[in-house]
Amino acid sequence: MPTFGEDVRTGLSKENKSISSKYFYDAKGSAIFQAIMRMPSYYLTDSEFEILETNKAEILKLFTADEGPFNLVEFGAGDGLKTKILIEFFLKQNVDFTYAPIDISQDALDNLTNDLGQRWPELKINPLHTDYFNGLDVLQREERRNIVLFLGSNLGNFDPTGANLFLSEIRAHLKPQDGLFIGLDLQKNPHVIVRAYDDPEGITKSFNLNLLNRINQELGGHFDPMKFDFYCSYSPETGEVRSYIVSKTDQKVRIDSLDFEAEFKQWEMIHTEISRKFRLNQMPALANNNGFEFISNSLDCKHYFVNSYWKAK
Ligand code: AVI
Repeated sequence: MPTFGEDVRTGLSKENKSISSKYFYDAKGSAIFQAIMRMPSYYLTDSEFEILETNKAEILKLFTADEGPFNLVEFGAGDGLKTKILIEFFLKQNVDFTYAPIDISQDALDNLTNDLGQRWPELKINPLHTDYFNGLDVLQREERRNIVLFLGSNLGNFDPTGANLFLSEIRAHLKPQDGLFIGLDLQKNPHVIVRAYDDPEGITKSFNLNLLNRINQELGGHFDPMKFDFYCSYSPETGEVRSYIVSKTDQKVRIDSLDFEAEFKQWEMIHTEISRKFRLNQMPALANNNGFEFISNSLDCKHYFVNSYWKAK
């Protein structure tokens, strides 16, 4: 796996510059993302929250259609705000499950575990401080079923090829009858989507520009964020929001630890993120092409977002 520095050097040396949005999430970036999720225009969080709240009984039926205790595995749980809806309901129904959040941030896991433990002392928690696939391998040593929650339309941040590879990789680390409950943002009125990403408060702009601060702090970069802007566009044809950092002037920026100088022409862009929006009728193929059987979709009342349940074939 290339390091952050290697990726920055490669990405800034290309004809079309790019740095992956996976590097957004240092402590400051994660805090900005929390602020994004609280913006009323960022409808994704509310829509998924509504789906879980309205359909929790149906979701429990899906998860318990096969008998026996299970692990409720969560990829990148964050503060677990949405998952708490399911946890609370499952506990009330005396369901035999263990909550197994997987995260590479020990801090995030500690905060979540303390919070959940205080709220529900009876909850069985098995936090796994590792990457997603290694975490699944650890859980596979047990006999019980694993049901993976991959919420928040995080899959949308992969390009189509990467998304299929990621889903197939999840499947490769599961056993038949294990489940995947995935939350995906849907294509809708393009104005609604644009408002979610091009917010007038500039929170999403600071989310992107924080990448330059991170390069300054961690790699000895000399970026002046004031000399850069943010731009994003949504194409209803591809279903992709594409985000960019834009150089406002001709400039050269040195990055000390890489012994490297990045050169920017005025209005040159650094592509940072894809946020892909899906069509409901893509769900069965997305499941099937990656080793899953499509079971069902749950929607919010505006049909903005879907939570789709698939079983490993
Ligand atoms: C984490 N991910 C699903 C978010 C998204 O909507 O693509 C990240 C984000 N980028 C800008 N706003 C939010």
